[in-house]
Amino acid sequence: MIATFVGYVCMIMKTKTLFFCRNCGNESPKWIGKCPACGEWNTYVEETVATGKPLRHSQNVGKSPAARPLPVKEIESENEARIDLHNSELNRVLGGGLVPGSLILAGGEPGIGKSTLLLQVALRLSPLKVLYVSGEESNRQIRMRADRIGIANENCFIFTETDTREIARHFEQLKPDIVVIDSIQTLATPQVEASAGSISQIRESAAEMNRLAKSTNVPFILIGHITKDGSIAGPKILEHMVDAVLQFEGDRHYGFRILRAIKNRFGPASELGIFEMRDNGLREVENPSEILLSQRETQVSGVAIAAIVEGLRPILIETQALVSTAAYGTPQRSGTGFDLRRLNMLLAVLEKRAGFRLATKDVFLNIAGGLRVDDPASDLAVIAAILSSANDQALDTQTVFAAEVGLSGEIRAVNRIEARISEADKLGFERIFVSKYGLKGLDLTKYRIRVEPVTNVGEFWAKLSR
Ligand code: TYD
Ligand code: MG
Repeated sequence: MIATFVGYVCMIMKTKTLFFCRNCGNESPKWIGKCPACGEWNTYVEETVATGKPLRHSQNVGKSPAARPLPVKEIESENEARIDLHNSELNRVLGGGLVPGSLILAGGEPGIGKSTLLLQVALRLSPLKVLYVSGEESNRQIRMRADRIGIANENCFIFTETDTREIARHFEQLKPDIVVIDSIQTLATPQVEASAGSISQIRESAAEMNRLAKSTNVPFILIGHITKDGSIAGPKILEHMVDAVLQFEGDRHYGFRILRAIKNRFGPASELGIFEMRDNGLREVENPSEILLSQRETQVSGVAIAAIVEGLRPILIETQALVSTAAYGTPQRSGTGFDLRRLNMLLAVLEKRAGFRLATKDVFLNIAGGLRVDDPASDLAVIAAILSSANDQALDTQTVFAAEVGLSGEIRAVNRIEARISEADKLGFERIFVSKYGLKGLDLTKYRIRVEPVTNVGEFWAKLSR
């Protein structure tokens, strides 16, 4: 047993070819088709690893000789002040600011605005000292971006470097309050021979940044690129190592950007911030509903407004459907910002449970503003938009929908219904359709908006199209 262990450590210490799972970072001495750790197929890539010390060793972050098990009561609770990033949306996503010593991963597709957001934050943080390390752009490019954002700050230091030793050295000299690394895929540590961006490099470089963060109590924000096909090669393997994972999303052709917390050790996960990309950087959008609803004077068919909840906030958004007779044999179905399988399911429910003939129709569904919606409460608005377009019957512009639709055509209750009703009420809407089953114990008299309880799809459409 001991002999095998020693043998294993020695084996890693020389140059060696190893195989890593692109999805979860699991390693294997030989190529395998299916990853035993995460179950994904065809994710193993070959990498040469040469380490000055065993790879596994470096992951024991924060180890000190005096460390011993402590009763939880004896541990000082770290109720420290969080660092205010002077950006309401980013603060919200982090759960109220940045925790000292934390390691944050900010992921997103290239061009979505990660560098812009973090440079903008770095420039606004004066008097705090920020070290912005870039392995992607030259000093002049960053200067141009800073000029575009239009803030001058003497305490924001730009350092174009990719070697982790150099970064650590300058970090110690400069003693910054916050460090931004743009991006983790460009870093390379001499401990590992593989090229920058490889899985072993990403893992080891991130571990080094984590050690710096934890030993000095300075927060580090790592930017990570997500590849085009949606697989988070690289950043994905860091998810368990970092304290929070923020994901930047949005359709590049629209101005809106969504920053989502998918993991957060210090705050609510699934919290979300909304930004708008302007000519001079990203603007925080504090009241998303007013922007996501298009201002419309005339009624058109195929438009319905959903009251969804994203993170902790209720948001009203517009769903648009176009239903037309299929020109070719197989009808087309497409959903932008909405799960296609869910759309197909809703169409099947309409067909089978309520007798609407949609099987020969093309159905296109679009969530306005380039948003992606996962909240099942958007189902009812989607159905309303589809039926409205199929019957060419415009819906009242002052009506909102918030309920899930089940497989038997029943209209189901959704969480946080009061928040949804109250948001629609606040914005001056006149009527909201909800599930009858979600209204128990609610005091509806305090709202001006009329609440319409419904139980199934057939009844819903009868009420709506009256
Ligand atoms: P960028 O931050 O470079 O993206 P990432 O770091 O995620 O790859 O964002 C690049 C895009 O943002 C680019 O298409 C230009 C645009 N942009 C603006 O629209 N306004 C601005 O003020 C800035 C700085 C960039
Ligand atoms: Mg960038």
